[in-house]
Amino acid sequence: MTKADARLAPAIAGNPASPAGRARFFRPTWAEISLTAFQDNLRETARVLGPSVRMIVVLKANGYGHGALALAKSAADLRGVPLWGFGLSSVEEGLALREAGIRQPLLILGSLYPFDSFEAALQSDLTPTVASRRAALALGRIAAALKRRVRVHLKVDTGMGRIGISPEAAGETLQAIEEGGLQLEGVYTHLARADSRAKTRTQMKEFDRVAALVRRRGLSPMMHAANSAAVFLYPEWHHQAVRPGLALYGVRPAGVRPSRVALRPVLTWKTRIVFLKKARPGIAVSYGSTFRTKRTSWLATLPVGYADGYRRSFSNRGQVLVKGRRCPVVGRVTMDQTVVDVTDVPHVEVGEEVVLLGEQAGNRVLAEDMARWADTIPYEILCGISGRVPRVTL
Ligand SMILES: Cc1ncc(COP(=O)(O)O)c(C=O)c1O
Repeated sequence: MTKADARLAPAIAGNPASPAGRARFFRPTWAEISLTAFQDNLRETARVLGPSVRMIVVLKANGYGHGALALAKSAADLRGVPLWGFGLSSVEEGLALREAGIRQPLLILGSLYPFDSFEAALQSDLTPTVASRRAALALGRIAAALKRRVRVHLKVDTGMGRIGISPEAAGETLQAIEEGGLQLEGVYTHLARADSRAKTRTQMKEFDRVAALVRRRGLSPMMHAANSAAVFLYPEWHHQAVRPGLALYGVRPAGVRPSRVALRPVLTWKTRIVFLKKARPGIAVSYGSTFRTKRTSWLATLPVGYADGYRRSFSNRGQVLVKGRRCPVVGRVTMDQTVVDVTDVPHVEVGEEVVLLGEQAGNRVLAEDMARWADTIPYEILCGISGRVPRVTL
C-alpha cells in the first residue's frame, strides 16, 4: 500500500467514520496533491531568479484547481524561496485565505468592480489592483473613510488588451493614487504571448515607459510582469518580482525546452474500476453507440465523467493508465461514468486503481496530453477538475 492508499483506505472501504481531517468519500475518484512536488517546483523556479527578485505565487482559481490553502501554507513554510505573497483573482479568494490564517500579502489580480468590494478587501488587508483612474479615486475615498494606509498595485495594459490603464493614462492615474493617499507598492502588466520574445519586447518597452514615469515622480514600487514562461525564458524581464502560476503546478510552459527546467506534476487524478465485463465483438458502448468492440474485450467502467471535469471531448480519444499501461477511453464520456478498454492488461479486477492524470508505474498522462485531446490548454484541464472530486493532500 502506498502512503496515499493507506490514507484513503477507510473511505474506499465505505467506512463513514474515516478519521477527521481526511477527505471523506466513498466514490473512488479523487485527486492527490503532492506538496513535495509543489515545493520542488517552487525551488526549481526560484533557482533561475536573481538575488533580489521576489516571487508572487499565483494561487488564483483555488490554486489552479489544486486547493489554494494547502499550497499557500506549504509555500509559506518553505525556506530558500523568496516569497513575496500570493496572487489571487478575487476578493472572495483573498478572504478565504485570510480567514484560514494566511498572513502573507495577498494581491487581488481581478475584482476591479464594484468599487465597494475594495472596502472588504481593505478590511482584511488584501492588496487591491488599481486599473483605472476612477478606481484609484474610489479606493482613496474608502481608504480615507476607513482611516487606513493602503498599499495598491497599478495594472498597466501594455498589449494584453484585457484590463489596465494605458501607458498614456499612467500620469493621471498616478496622480489620483497620490492624491488619494494610497501607497503605490507595485506596478505590473501581463504578457499576451510570453512564448514570443518579439511580442514580449514590445510590451516591455511600453512597461519601461511607465517605469520611467513612475521614477520621475520619485516613486520606486516593485515592478512585475513575468509569468511562468517569462520566468524561464527572459531573465532580463524579471524586474523586482515574478508571478509564476502554471510552472509551480508542474506544467512546463509553452516555449520552454525540457532541458531548461525540471518540473513535477503536483496533481494526480485517480479512480478505480467499479464494474468490469467481458464483451463479445460488436457490442456498442455508451450514448450514441459511437464505439463497437472489434474483438472479445474486457471493458472497465470508471466512476468519473464530465461532471468531474473529465471532458466529453475525451470520448474515443483519451487514455488512462491501468497497471502502468495506457488504455483507451471507448465510447462517449458521460456525466458520471466512462468506459475504458483493458483487454491488453492482464489480471485486472474491480477495485483496480486507474490513473486519469499523472504517473503510474513509469508511464504518464500529462495535463498537456489531456489538453491536446480536448483542443484546449493545460490550465483549463487543471481548473476544470470540478469540486466534486475530493482533493487529498499528501
Ligand atoms: C495577471 C496574471 N499574472 C500571472 C499569471 C500566471 O501565469 P502562468 O500560469 O502562465 O504562470 C496569470 C495567469 O493567468 C495572470 O492572470
